[in-house]
Amino acid sequence: MFQITGPALSRGGAAVLSPFAFALSRGEMMGVVGPNGAGKSTLLRAIAGLSAEHVPVTLDGARLGRAAIGHLPQAFSVHSALSVLDCVLLGRRERLGLRVPPDIIAEAEALLAQLGLARIADRPMTALSGGQQQRVLIAQRLFRQPALMLMDEPTSALDLHHQLSALSELRTYARAAGAAVIVALHDLTLAARFCDRILIVAHGGCAQPDSPDKVLTRQTIEPNWTVEPEFLRCRDGAMVIVPHSLGQRHPAAK
Ligand SMILES: Nc1ncnc2c1ncn2[C@@H]1O[C@H](COP(=O)(O)OP(=O)(O)OP(=O)(O)O)[C@@H](O)[C@H]1O
Ligand SMILES: [Mg+2]
Repeated sequence: MFQITGPALSRGGAAVLSPFAFALSRGEMMGVVGPNGAGKSTLLRAIAGLSAEHVPVTLDGARLGRAAIGHLPQAFSVHSALSVLDCVLLGRRERLGLRVPPDIIAEAEALLAQLGLARIADRPMTALSGGQQQRVLIAQRLFRQPALMLMDEPTSALDLHHQLSALSELRTYARAAGAAVIVALHDLTLAARFCDRILIVAHGGCAQPDSPDKVLTRQTIEPNWTVEPEFLRCRDGAMVIVPHSLGQRHPAAK
């Protein structure tokens, strides 16, 4: 069990979040959702150890060091001309010497193949599209094999196919490695589909995480996002949330 307990968090001298505490199981993927500016990135940065405030993370009671936490920030701009393969290998830079053993290179190549990136393994990062760069950065974090993975809007630049495959890979990683993944997302339907539990960040605080059905309701969505949600079910039974501008509800839905 992972336990995360934090003090009040601020950014640029202004209070953002009140103190919080929540637990995650091994193998769990938890979504963090909330409107713009609510504090999702502030929360993930603090858990990653990148803020002035100290947020202790424990796994089964033992302190989890920063090296065991992977973080993909929301804003990424890649200026490095490193190849895709080298960029992925960098995920383990602390554990690798100057000469990377062939079995580790083979492992990185296998991961690139699994993620559909083998064809661009030799391309420089600067010569990739934004979505391709984001997929390589996700691959790099997966290659790092952290116990706790913090992904801040990892699908923001991805097409529909790659949104599904990236979230599926992250969930599979959590299950297979006994790790936990916390993923900030704006798409509530994707969050409901892929996350075991969801935590809403809004109005200066974090709610307690719970299952998508319990957390994503008209009572939570309307006041926090200022939209009226329409709830549908897709063919596999997962929840689909269609947002409508408040006051523009179709008469048939009343
Ligand atoms: N570098 C910064 N300096 C000062 N204030 C900041 C900084 N970054 C964010 N903030 C402020 O902190 C608050 C929380 O921002 P944060 O980036 O955590 O929101 P978010 O929920 O991730 O939003 P978004 O959905 O837009 O990514 C906002 O009021 C924002 O304006
Ligand atoms: Mg953010």
